[in-house]
Amino acid sequence: MDNRPIGVFDSGLGGLTVVRELSKHLPHENLIYFGDTGRVPYGSRSPEMIRRFALQDSRFLLSHDVKCIIAACGTVSSIASDLLSSLPVPAWGVVEPTADQALSATKNGKIGVLGTAVTVQSRSFELALQNRCPTVQVIAKACPVLVSLVESGWIEEDNLATEAVLRRYLQPLIDAGVDTVILGCTHFPLLSPLISRIMGEEVTLINSGAACAAHCKTVLQQNDASAAGNENGHCEFFVSDRPHNFTNVAQMFLGKAVEQDVHQIRVEDLS
Ligand code: DGL
Repeated sequence: MDNRPIGVFDSGLGGLTVVRELSKHLPHENLIYFGDTGRVPYGSRSPEMIRRFALQDSRFLLSHDVKCIIAACGTVSSIASDLLSSLPVPAWGVVEPTADQALSATKNGKIGVLGTAVTVQSRSFELALQNRCPTVQVIAKACPVLVSLVESGWIEEDNLATEAVLRRYLQPLIDAGVDTVILGCTHFPLLSPLISRIMGEEVTLINSGAACAAHCKTVLQQNDASAAGNENGHCEFFVSDRPHNFTNVAQMFLGKAVEQDVHQIRVEDLS
């Protein structure tokens, strides 16, 4: 048993989709979330810079004595998995758990991947899928505009601008006849209703948050590190830009209001 918190980080708000799933699947665990809202987006930056940010984010969580770290960011997970493995506590990203779920879901062996530019360039999901199943066909599409739309809260099912952007990104996946789509950026589950409507109900969407929470449960059980005695776990939030913006949009991500204080830290203080 280990009552230390689970650390979760992302470039901004998208990782809250992982927090939401963790709270659902591991309700007794305490969580610490760091959203690097002062430096979002990561997905269009150089790999060197993203790795530097990922290390700083991880060190920040380690300074809060976390028992494990989840990089709730497809971009970090895609290009910094070696860095995560070198941390002094168990740490992982979203790629491997999500690939496993997608392969269990597909029937026709055609899987679409949506991610940031860096994620798609890295071919991380494609390689993880093909390592497990060499015959799988993968159609990956970079969707650089979606993160800004989501951070702005343009996620309503009747949002015509977001729908038009999505239709353009999804067309190659429709043409290829995929039956499963990996939402390879943690911001994208917020667009699930719209994506589902465009792709068709029969296409399975894989939410990296749910896959990651299931993986976390297994890791904690294997290490005998689950929390014990907590009635309900709590989540502490840290951001690197004004908390006000975070609180407003976070409600949409979490599906409930953020009642606790959100702490602001200075990126200059990250080592
Ligand atoms: N949430 C991050 C991801 O999963 C992307 C956002 C960004 O570009 O910073 O890739």
